[in-house]
Amino acid sequence: MADKAIHTGSHFFKFRSLRNKLLILIIVLSLLPLIGISIFSYNAGSKQISKDRIRLLLENKAQDTADKIDIMLRNQKQEVNSMATTFWRTFPGLGTQNHAAMVQMLNDFTVSHEVYDILVVVDKSGRIVAVNTVNRLSQPLGSAALLGQELKGAEEKELFNRSIRGASTHHDWYRSSVVQRLYDYSDRDISYWYNIAYGEPLLDPVTHETVGVWISIINWSCIQNILDSVEPDLSVQDLKTGYAFMYAKDADTIIGHKYRANRKDLAPLPNYPAAKQDLYGTRVVGDHGLKDLHDAVLRQNRSVFNFAYEFPKGTRKLSGLAFIDDAAFGWVVGVGVDEVDIFRPIRTLSWWIVAATLILAALVVVMTYLVAQGITIPLKNLIHTAQSIAQGNLKERVQVRSSDEVGILGSTFNDMARALENRETQLQELNRNLENMVRQRTQELESSHDALKKAYLDLQNTQEQLVHTEKMASLGQLVAGIAHEIKNPLNFIYGNTGFLSDYTKKLQLLLEAFDSLPSLSPEDRARIDNLKKECNYAFIREDLPTLINNFTEGAGRINTIVSDLRTFSRMDSYMMAEIDVHASIEISLNLLRNQYKERIAIHREYGAIPKIQGYAGKLSQVFMNLLTNAFHAIGEKGDVWIRTRAAGGMIEVEVQDNGQGIPRENLKRIFEPFFTTKAVGQGTGLGLSISYGIIEQHHGRILVANAPGGGTIFTVRLPIEQEKSAS
Ligand SMILES: Nc1ncnc2c1ncn2[C@@H]1O[C@H](COP(=O)(O)OP(=O)(O)OP(=O)(O)O)[C@@H](O)[C@H]1O
Ligand SMILES: [Mg+2]
Repeated sequence: MADKAIHTGSHFFKFRSLRNKLLILIIVLSLLPLIGISIFSYNAGSKQISKDRIRLLLENKAQDTADKIDIMLRNQKQEVNSMATTFWRTFPGLGTQNHAAMVQMLNDFTVSHEVYDILVVVDKSGRIVAVNTVNRLSQPLGSAALLGQELKGAEEKELFNRSIRGASTHHDWYRSSVVQRLYDYSDRDISYWYNIAYGEPLLDPVTHETVGVWISIINWSCIQNILDSVEPDLSVQDLKTGYAFMYAKDADTIIGHKYRANRKDLAPLPNYPAAKQDLYGTRVVGDHGLKDLHDAVLRQNRSVFNFAYEFPKGTRKLSGLAFIDDAAFGWVVGVGVDEVDIFRPIRTLSWWIVAATLILAALVVVMTYLVAQGITIPLKNLIHTAQSIAQGNLKERVQVRSSDEVGILGSTFNDMARALENRETQLQELNRNLENMVRQRTQELESSHDALKKAYLDLQNTQEQLVHTEKMASLGQLVAGIAHEIKNPLNFIYGNTGFLSDYTKKLQLLLEAFDSLPSLSPEDRARIDNLKKECNYAFIREDLPTLINNFTEGAGRINTIVSDLRTFSRMDSYMMAEIDVHASIEISLNLLRNQYKERIAIHREYGAIPKIQGYAGKLSQVFMNLLTNAFHAIGEKGDVWIRTRAAGGMIEVEVQDNGQGIPRENLKRIFEPFFTTKAVGQGTGLGLSISYGIIEQHHGRILVANAPGGGTIFTVRLPIEQEKSAS
């Protein structure tokens, strides 16, 4: 159940955790409207600052500027007119006697009106009657030398020629040679190098005759100033690239433009090369290739309009255009702004929107993360605790920090864990009790099983013994009967063998005596010899002693067997005596010396045993039997251990060898009479059965077992005291 991946919260980008799911959900939910609002704001903003609005603004600005210039021109015209009128009234006749006062008056006009470079009065013949001797700043001009001379400049000459015929005239934008001679504008901007001039006839009020000409040469800088004022105005509206320009009536010659680089009073604009600023006198079409702009001006006639163009190359501009009302001049005023500048606020706005969206998104992420943490950390703790409990730490509890659903979940979980712990404790208790009970039962069962097993073994032993004893008893009866039946006839045979030998010898002696009789006739001797031959007497005489010997030996053997069988069946009885068992064993060992010396090591492990009651000869026969069997069982070399000990009114004699041992199937049969595994002639199979009988007679027991390391152990257990009735 415990899915490992559940608690691997470290991998933020795995989509599995609740926190990340929440994060993604909330980010999507919040960013969609955010982005929507941003796009909407951007579109709304762009619409607000549309090109049309800017064009309108630029047209208005151009028209304003044109109007200002118009007013200025009109004012100048009126001023020139009124100056000419005033002058003539003050100095009718233009006499040289009033010269100083005339100059004074011209100087006053120059200083007070601030736009004139030269104010000059010319008489009918074209000679200069009066000229200002100071400039607009009351600084002296070297103009006195002009007095009495004719006008030199072609433009001024022409002006004079037209005005002397009684008309007010003017001269368009030009470079006045007089001004150039008198003024040094090398430290000023280029606009100072240009002028416009007005000519006004001086009329005699009585005769209405033209008596002279008033000429005002105005410095072009006053017009340029009006154009220049556009720049700060647009700057205020955050259109920093905005500027004004003006062409002449031909809609081609540039007579005014923003040339900031040349203006000593203003800081240069960045990204505008200084050399490009001086466009005075250059041609819109010829020099700048703006033919469309030129044609548009011609086509539009005198109405307000605007036009988009590219100048310098790569810099797109929007412009508003307006005509100067004064048809005599017919200038065209333009106000232009870089498109980049126009749409800068929108771009800025878009950046702001992007930045704000990003910041808001970041805030959303952080907030969501914090909120998600607030949910997921307690959940993670819960999972951690649950896993810990699953691993068996039932004491583990969740820390409940809040009262919300997660908090309730935590405390419910704790309740559950507590209940689980109680259950576990109860279960453990129960388990322990159960274990104890099982152990007790098992012990009981085991002990009863042991008792049963012991009883069963005892029973089996007893049964075996019973069977054995019964078998041995019936064998004893059988053997006793046979022995008894054989005993009497055997006595006839065995008891008479001595006589037989004796009698035979005597008969032989007798026969030989007869044989050596001298009185015997040859015929008788021959008959006897024949008879001897027929009877094979020589052989008989030879063989008879051997035959009798064999007969005697065989009878002796049968006698031994019978007496052995009688011993087994306890038919004999001897006198009971006190027996030293150790001494009895030693006698047996002595008698058997030939069988074991240099071949078998005897290990005597004699314990302290008392003398016992018994039949000495019979018991030593038992030990002889056991030791003989042991020596036979050891093929070449080996060991025999003889151990004695006393215990519980009995003594034990143990004879152990490390010989060939007894196969299992033979163990039960070795006490039977005539059971032997030895070759014919080597053993009769009576040794152990006789021993068994003897031990039974002593109320003892004889046991056999195979020794653990190979070989056999015979144990003889004998009571120390014999009961009275035992014999
Ligand atoms: N110590 C022993 N190790 C191995 N086998 C033994 C031992 N004692 C007895 N036996 C076996 O028991 C059989 C019976 O022994 P038992 O003494 O009765 O007869 P026997 O030794 O064969 O002949 P004998 O009549 O000469 O004693 C033996 O033939 C032998 O197989
Ligand atoms: Mg034997």
